[in-house]
Amino acid sequence: MVSYVLVQGVPMAINYDQEKQDLTRRNFLSLTANGVIGLGLLGAAGVFGKFFWPNVSYGPPTAFAIGKPTNFPDGAKQNIADQKVSIIRHGDKLGAISMVCQHLGCTVAASPTGYDCPCHGSKYDDMGNVTHGPAQIALFWFDVHPTPSGDLEVDKSKKNDPGHYYTIV
Ligand code: FES
Repeated sequence: MVSYVLVQGVPMAINYDQEKQDLTRRNFLSLTANGVIGLGLLGAAGVFGKFFWPNVSYGPPTAFAIGKPTNFPDGAKQNIADQKVSIIRHGDKLGAISMVCQHLGCTVAASPTGYDCPCHGSKYDDMGNVTHGPAQIALFWFDVHPTPSGDLEVDKSKKNDPGHYYTIV
């Protein structure tokens, strides 16, 4: 469609169909170019923003429940293999001994006399004290404490010397 307008008193013809067609093509190209640029900027912002996100992997929790004290009869030596902890009970006292050898970190095995390391032959008594090297340091004892539910919890983040018992009340 052709229309006429007056520009400073002079009639000028405007072809709206041609104008509309050019505008549509121009808009299409403009939108496409803007879209491509926008996606590129968004991707770059994502890569840049990732630097602000901490690259942390979380380990398993250090505290775990072991249930009621009655789960451990007097004289018990019960190993919790997946936690590498041995729970011992002497009367009304309960202890949690690390089963990680103090030499090079192998997992010790319970023996009739205490704990033996299969890697280089270190031996520990029932309290985790070294009786035969090459290990020089006793096995850690972990903190044992009750939870509000009455269950006991071992906290491997709190290491103690041998003989650090929880007294059952
Ligand atoms: S790691 Fe246990 S004796 Fe070497």
